Amino acid sequence: MATRKGLGDKRARHDPAYLRAKREQYAGRAIYKLEEIDKRFRLIKPGTQLLDLGCWPGAWLQYAVQKAGTEATLVGVDLKAVEIALPANVHTIVGDVTKLNLGRFVDRFGRFDLVLSDMAPNTTGNKDFDIPTSEDLFLSALDIASASLRIGGHFCAKVFQGGRFADLLHEVESRFQQGRAYRCENTRKASREQYIIGRGLKATTARAHAPTTDTDPAPADD
Ligand SMILES: C[S@@+](CC[C@H](N)C(=O)[O-])C[C@H]1O[C@@H](n2cnc3c(N)ncnc32)[C@H](O)[C@@H]1O
Repeated sequence: MATRKGLGDKRARHDPAYLRAKREQYAGRAIYKLEEIDKRFRLIKPGTQLLDLGCWPGAWLQYAVQKAGTEATLVGVDLKAVEIALPANVHTIVGDVTKLNLGRFVDRFGRFDLVLSDMAPNTTGNKDFDIPTSEDLFLSALDIASASLRIGGHFCAKVFQGGRFADLLHEVESRFQQGRAYRCENTRKASREQYIIGRGLKATTARAHAPTTDTDPAPADD
């Protein structure tokens, strides 16, 4: 089992979602957010080929592979190595998503039906730093999705709500048939965490963001 963020944090130890995840042997409480989003937006079906950006410690991958099954290819990328055991059709890669070589990536794995991002910066408590960093990670995820999804594919990514939130939602609406903002039910009151979901990548977006294949190799598997 992966090391859990917040094990020494009193608030985490008394958090019902954290305790439930521990009891149900999931890698983290984030699983219940993806479950909630998936129930609402129906993103993952048997066979869904999926890319999970910011996948450590691996809870979203655990949920996704239960839904997508063992025939689908699931790929997770994170700065940190995923340590939990996952089925053989789940590939985890250690790397910075902002440095991914998308051409090599798409050559290797094919195009995805769904790109997820739960990426978050190491929060400093200074919202003037944390929010813009989260917005930049969101935009990286959106560009990766635009270049690696099949036409009609879906996107779901986290962002801390700040000054660029309306622009980010608008950008998703312009690249997908439908864009929606969603705040998970058990999000702490003070949290600015939101998810933006794009359904149905437009053909014009896929063409405009087609990846090239002539730069450095993608990072190697664990
Ligand atoms: C909230 S955690 C993800 C939890 C995950 N969804 C799960 O269910 O286990 C956010 C992750 O984003 C990762 N992250 C942040 N910036 C990144 C980047 N530039 N490239 C890759 N991963 C990044 C962090 O390392 C961290 O593990």
